[in-house]
Amino acid sequence: MKIMHVDASAKRERSNSRALSRYFLERLRDQHVDLEIDYLDVTVDTPPHVTEAFAIATYTPADQRTDAMKATLASSDALCARLLAADAFVFAMPMYNWSMPSAFKAFIDSVTRTNLTYVFAEDGSTVGQLGRQKVLFITSRGADLRPGTQYSSMDALTPALKAAFGFLGVADPAFVDAQPLQFANPEARTEALERARGELDTVAADWAQSVRSTEANNEAMTACEE
Ligand SMILES: Cc1cc2nc3c(=O)[nH]c(=O)nc-3n(C[C@H](O)[C@H](O)[C@H](O)COP(=O)(O)O)c2cc1C
Repeated sequence: MKIMHVDASAKRERSNSRALSRYFLERLRDQHVDLEIDYLDVTVDTPPHVTEAFAIATYTPADQRTDAMKATLASSDALCARLLAADAFVFAMPMYNWSMPSAFKAFIDSVTRTNLTYVFAEDGSTVGQLGRQKVLFITSRGADLRPGTQYSSMDALTPALKAAFGFLGVADPAFVDAQPLQFANPEARTEALERARGELDTVAADWAQSVRSTEANNEAMTACEE
């Protein structure tokens, strides 16, 4: 299983979201899933912000692009190719000011591309090209935004991620939200991390099961063909 693993916390060793994404991949390995990891730290290799040149080049039909336009789009083209080659995505990030880290937003701006990650159908509707991939979002939050809490209506992160990746064809992403991790007492924080790890165990078991089913189907198909 080829997984594109993206971390987006400004923190490194102390980062909860980074620790949880590593934890998830370890649980998948425990389940004997054969993993190929394509790792991207968007705080180190941050995709460029949208520029005027990018905005013009991206909406110019591919066969009409100048060499300069092609050069402007080259890093975005390469990133889209990485997404399209993956079987699954693990996107880990903290909540910053109720939404996503700006480096992850730059990543989304770079990978949302006409005729690469989404195409137009004959009737003019758009068809996302990331429908076959499994997707896990791991988010870490300082406050508790679960239903019934004071901040529950402030979650602008979950809908933004669902919309951006839904447009690219991701229908049913898994979310594991670790909260509250900062603005809470130590017991609540420990509990939140345990809850998140428990949810990650479940997603890892689901993914492992689905890999095993696909392998069994492929073997059956090969046997039929022989
Ligand atoms: C700049 C900044 C903004 C933040 N904004 C929020 C916020 O809006 N809501 C919230 O619940 N936590 C917020 N936090 C807290 C982080 O989401 C929380 O500490 C999280 O666990 C960080 O994840 P990390 O350990 O992977 O970096 C913010 C933290 C920082 C540094």
